[in-house]
Amino acid sequence: MKVDKKIEDDGVIFMSVKNSEEGNSEKINDEDVTILAIESSCDESAAAVVKNGREVLSNIISSQISLHTIYGGVVPEIASRKHVEKMNGCIRAALDEANVTLEDIDAVAVTYGPGLVGALLVGVSEAKAIAYAINKPLIGVHHIEGHISANFIENKELEPPFVCLVASGGHSHLVVVKDYGEYEIIGQTRDDAAGEAFDKVARAIGLGYPGGPKIDKAAKEGNPDVFTFPQAKIADAEYDFSFSGLKSSVLNYINQAKMQGNEINQADIAASFQKAVVEVLVDHSIRACSQYGIKKLAIAGGVASNSGLRELMEKECADNGIQFYRPSPVLCTDNAAMIGAAAYYEYKKGVRFGMDMNAVPNLPLGDRERRFHAGKHSNSMN
Ligand code: KG4
Ligand code: ZN
Repeated sequence: MKVDKKIEDDGVIFMSVKNSEEGNSEKINDEDVTILAIESSCDESAAAVVKNGREVLSNIISSQISLHTIYGGVVPEIASRKHVEKMNGCIRAALDEANVTLEDIDAVAVTYGPGLVGALLVGVSEAKAIAYAINKPLIGVHHIEGHISANFIENKELEPPFVCLVASGGHSHLVVVKDYGEYEIIGQTRDDAAGEAFDKVARAIGLGYPGGPKIDKAAKEGNPDVFTFPQAKIADAEYDFSFSGLKSSVLNYINQAKMQGNEINQADIAASFQKAVVEVLVDHSIRACSQYGIKKLAIAGGVASNSGLRELMEKECADNGIQFYRPSPVLCTDNAAMIGAAAYYEYKKGVRFGMDMNAVPNLPLGDRERRFHAGKHSNSMN
């Protein structure tokens, strides 16, 4: 993947993700399904054009992350307002880079949950307006299904069933992907999501926001064996996660060190903390593959771009005869190409959302009942 970056006057980073130096050069034929996908669930405004679920013709991401850094986290109101400013530009760029017009688009897909409600509503309204104007189907996509589907983009041969570890800022799920759009959640976090723990620990040790990439970088300079932070095991649910004890243990250590006037070593704490998180994530994932008799394991979500996780997972998969799939780091964090990939399989199943589709900030994964009610599974548009 090649990422062209430009910093705009307001500090927003405009990115165009290309398959190679030559760009995204797929041509469209009559039988192809070409989807315009939109994502705005958190602090990235994104638009992409995706052909047949796996060929990304364009992938535009406008990241506001630098605007939120001074507040130590995403400020929902600022995020919504920036989406309003940036989304049309992203869509324009996505169409231009794909060398298509709205006439070439077969369906419009959008993340409708989970996420920040004000942020989601920008994408949802935009998608509805475009679908209405071009009289083409509208497809609502679950954000986490999007993250999982990011694996299809660079691994054309990957098909369900497979096990997928989803670890992002809001979610930590271990999922069996039984078929396209069919998920069995076998484990989830009892408290903090993995990314949330990275963000909180980073803030506590003075690395700032966003924590994940900063801890990842600091950990490379540190010794992971200096501290042994606790890894929670949950007695009655062997695939569930809990990161709050681990986070508290790091915070307690830091407070104690400060009270005693001792210096803290950021790199060693980062490395030891990352090791503790990564080992739990890898252990649960490999055990799930073995128990379910599945020899394919994928990772997804922002934390899936963590270099320590990618390294250990690769090694353990190789040792256990499991095929390991991971998206390029830029496809692990929020983007619209993954939403287009997920939407394609929904489109093929005949899923169509009505013009009453709304944002659902706490939309559960795999909850078809809720999903169809949220958008009244209707064929009112094609
Ligand atoms: O998937 P994502 O972009 O947004 C959500 O859907 O939440 O994930 C963002 C999360 C943040 O908590 C961020 O700190 C974490 O992913 N993250 C990382 C890394 N890059 C992003 N965590 C660990 N290591 C990284 N390299
Ligand atoms: Zn995400």
